[in-house]
Amino acid sequence: MANVIVIGAQWGDEGKGKITDLLSRSADVVVRYQGGVNAGHTIVVKGQTFKLHLIPSGILYPNTDCIIGCGTVIDPQILIAELDQLKELNISTDHLLISETAHVTMPYHRLIDQASEERRGSYKIGTTGRGIGPTYADKSERTGIRVLDLMNPDGLREQLEWTINYKNVILEKLYNLPPLDPQEVIEQYLGYAERLRPHVVDTSLKISDAIQRRRNILFEGAQGTLLDLDHGTYPYVTSSNPVAGGACVGTGVGPTMIDRVIGVSKAYTTRVGEGPFPTELDGELGELLCDRGAEFGTTTGRKRRCGWFDAVIGRYAVRINGMDCMALTKLDVLDELEEIKVCVAYDIDGDRSEHFPTSSRQFARCRPIYKTLPGWKVSTTNCRTLEDLPQAALDYLKFLAELMEVPIAIVSLGASRDQTIIVEDPIHGPKRALLHPDGTPATLLSA
Ligand code: GDP
Ligand code: IMO
Ligand code: MG
Repeated sequence: MANVIVIGAQWGDEGKGKITDLLSRSADVVVRYQGGVNAGHTIVVKGQTFKLHLIPSGILYPNTDCIIGCGTVIDPQILIAELDQLKELNISTDHLLISETAHVTMPYHRLIDQASEERRGSYKIGTTGRGIGPTYADKSERTGIRVLDLMNPDGLREQLEWTINYKNVILEKLYNLPPLDPQEVIEQYLGYAERLRPHVVDTSLKISDAIQRRRNILFEGAQGTLLDLDHGTYPYVTSSNPVAGGACVGTGVGPTMIDRVIGVSKAYTTRVGEGPFPTELDGELGELLCDRGAEFGTTTGRKRRCGWFDAVIGRYAVRINGMDCMALTKLDVLDELEEIKVCVAYDIDGDRSEHFPTSSRQFARCRPIYKTLPGWKVSTTNCRTLEDLPQAALDYLKFLAELMEVPIAIVSLGASRDQTIIVEDPIHGPKRALLHPDGTPATLLSA
């Protein structure tokens, strides 16, 4: 039995969908714990591509229960479209459960997200425009609509009439936008409610029951560590907690129930939206990574900014998430390069630092200090064991693992399930080494 959290170790789009799908093979339950339809998780199975925004990446396994936890925000329109799309592909969604206490993204959230980004001008965050920030803001402000509110038509009418009239003042007076018609929105959302009703339950009770019965639970994060509201590159972050700690809050599971944390990282770095990115490559090399990695957003289609692997961020992600091991994806994208750089430390105003700075202003002044490694210049896409890899690729992996002080348990060399090397069992293999109180490395803790 193992309860495992899968998180993004960079700025999102690390390949969490692929890794979650892969690990779902041995999971009984897969739970999404935060984020909303800002996420886009891609799974490729036998040449068929699935793009999921809210539905957990375990959905392709008919015997795996899939849960959308209370820490997520749910856009019913997009969720229903996703359900329809899976139905068309003959994928059953009967085993999908939705938390009663998750908050609901409303039309005014989307409008306010987009209008406030426009108003910010050069200070914009580069959000996905899907209403994520305003939905979480209402949750904190305690004016949010929850899934259980949707399930109660009379209460919903009363609640939405008040809320929409309140939001209309903001839309009209602050953003010069036309007001929403409360009745129209109410009818639309009552329709969504009926469609979603069969899936809605107290998911925390379901998860607790699964834990009691020693089922294997996989917690699937969206976004990534550097987009975390508390631990990321604030204000250029999302409005939830993608870090491993968020999995407990976003599902109602106590931390003592978690056995493992697996981080997912690309073999280089990408970022969508605004904000500092020390290892960003502007020129030809950036274009090459973008082309070879097909780096265009799953949700918005925006071009992802590309750069070298940043081990300062990697080490930070290991620490903040208590990561036991890492899945390194898209190694194949580096196949053609003559040489590969890795950021080992930052130069901040002439001082060397190996730590991620807490201030975004300081982060923007970080200049990467690189170590250059030779490329391997052969295709790795058909490698299935470590022995199949060229020596330079092996050296690259070893270098990253040593720098970040974390074992690399999975190496991914292509989008499909089989393009993967399982170096060691990520769920039952050794956990990350800790230090003895005297500072010497301890023997690896067994699972
Ligand atoms: P997520 O948001 O973390 O699930 O990642 P996305 O799905 O948004 O983006 C990752 C993209 O890379 C998807 O198009 C995947 O199909 C693709 N991908 C995942 N792993 C690999 C890999 O090892 N090599 C290559 N070339 N593509 C990969
Ligand atoms: P997955 O789960 C990459 C980024 C946006 C923007 C910032 C805030 O596919 O890895 P938001 O709409 O959340 O308020 O935008 O966060 N962002 C992502 N970047 N992958 C994602 O999800 C993202 N979700 C949000 O580009 O910079
Ligand atoms: Mg994505």
